[in-house]
Amino acid sequence: MAQHPLIESFQRAGQAQVFAFFDQLAPAAQQRLLEEAAEVDLNEVARLYRSLVAKSDGAAGVDLAGLAPAPYERRPEHGGDAAAWAKAKSVGEQALRSGRVAAFTVAGGQGTRLGYDGPKGTFRVTPVLQKSLFQVFAEKILAAGRRYGRPLHWFIMTSHANHAATEAFFAEHRYFGLDRGRVHFFRQGRMPAVSFDGKILLETTSSLALSPDGHGGSLRALERSGALDLMQREGVDTLSYFQVDNPLVRCIDPAFIGWHVMRGSEMTSKMVPKAYAEEKVGHFCAQNGKSVVVEYSDLPMAMQRETDANGQLRYIAGSIAIHVLDREFVRRMASGAEGVALPFHRADKKIPTVDVAGAAVKPDKANGVKFEMFVFDALPFARNPVIIETLRADDFSPVKNADGVDSPKTCRDDQLRQFARWLKANGATVPVDASGLPATSIEVSPLFGYDEDSFADAWRALPTKPAIADGLTLA
Ligand code: UD1
Repeated sequence: MAQHPLIESFQRAGQAQVFAFFDQLAPAAQQRLLEEAAEVDLNEVARLYRSLVAKSDGAAGVDLAGLAPAPYERRPEHGGDAAAWAKAKSVGEQALRSGRVAAFTVAGGQGTRLGYDGPKGTFRVTPVLQKSLFQVFAEKILAAGRRYGRPLHWFIMTSHANHAATEAFFAEHRYFGLDRGRVHFFRQGRMPAVSFDGKILLETTSSLALSPDGHGGSLRALERSGALDLMQREGVDTLSYFQVDNPLVRCIDPAFIGWHVMRGSEMTSKMVPKAYAEEKVGHFCAQNGKSVVVEYSDLPMAMQRETDANGQLRYIAGSIAIHVLDREFVRRMASGAEGVALPFHRADKKIPTVDVAGAAVKPDKANGVKFEMFVFDALPFARNPVIIETLRADDFSPVKNADGVDSPKTCRDDQLRQFARWLKANGATVPVDASGLPATSIEVSPLFGYDEDSFADAWRALPTKPAIADGLTLA
């Protein structure tokens, strides 16, 4: 076989199979394979195989010792300290006026459950104008920049698979009115899949089975891409993190940012009380004096169903994947320094590969393992972490599935309910059903109002109030 230092390092690591077909490949294909192989950290793969695959039977193996529900800041309407919330809001507004804050979206996921072909952010979600997820976020960020007199930087993490399509979508839509110099795309890292005996899998004879390294990969990708340095140059030290699948999210929420700043927190997270015991969200917990998130798949159902003396779920704090991150905390987590790295999780998958003759194999049961990091695993490393309650109706209605829960339909209805609530709170007559769903399709552009405050200001400023009719849009 052709000799090359990289090929030799794979051979020494017991991974010679990666180059089994190398000599038969055309030069361009050889080059591509070498480039992919150069992305692989062989020591990391060996370590992950030893710790997560060889030693384990595939069970989650999450340590539940000493686990208890995490404390959180309740909303004022649920008994929280109203004065502290008011203070947090004004501290957050001050942070926004001083230009310390940037938005950050993780959009590297593959969106397989939705069955949509294309970057998930390009999926159309709004009830009347059918705006895409990306457009909704862009307009919220644009509007917040205007409100606080400081345009915001927006960082968007993509994957190898959707990077070019994501950039093209923004260019085609002229960045939805944002200053293109403030919209920054970068790709997340990839991890090779391995067989159950630790061999890196080929997807074809000339390519590795590589997949995104999880949203936790965002921390190292922020560092590697130079985004953290850019933030530092621009005086940004606070990142408002959210997922691409949730158009209801308050991308820029002054009270949330304010709690983070006020407490000197390195990572602040939002919780919603779980709707029911089996709801598939992560759980904020406390363990050995640290805050942790335990995924629904890792917390035994008996614990998820436990109730307290009032009959309320004990593990009530659901994680909706909305965080505020301190820039230097991200840098520390990304440094890979001993003892501060995010752990990897294994997922057993059916991974298309090739057989010894190089023929394609489409397995019908799991044939290997993918490795992913989760951003919420940074929480136990953060100094002064804070968890605050938010109202589901104002922050969380993701599009994950084609039908049923968390689908385009439920998300559309939740947007309609929100618009109706804002209108009614400001004196408009909007007929709604018992669930708050208006009878007519209406849409409020984030550029008109993107939360109750900005909406109230814009509504008040309207010289004549429009009649609420089907298809009404406030832009
Ligand atoms: C996630 C959380 C769950 C939380 C729920 C709220 C995990 C493991 N679980 O579940 O605790 O309650 O959201 O909606 O995260 N992404 C990347 N790169 C990747 C993988 C994902 O950027 O490699 C992004 C996706 O684009 C998406 C987000 O991360 O924006 C969530 O990914 P997904 O895998 O859909 O998470 P869920 O299983 O829905």
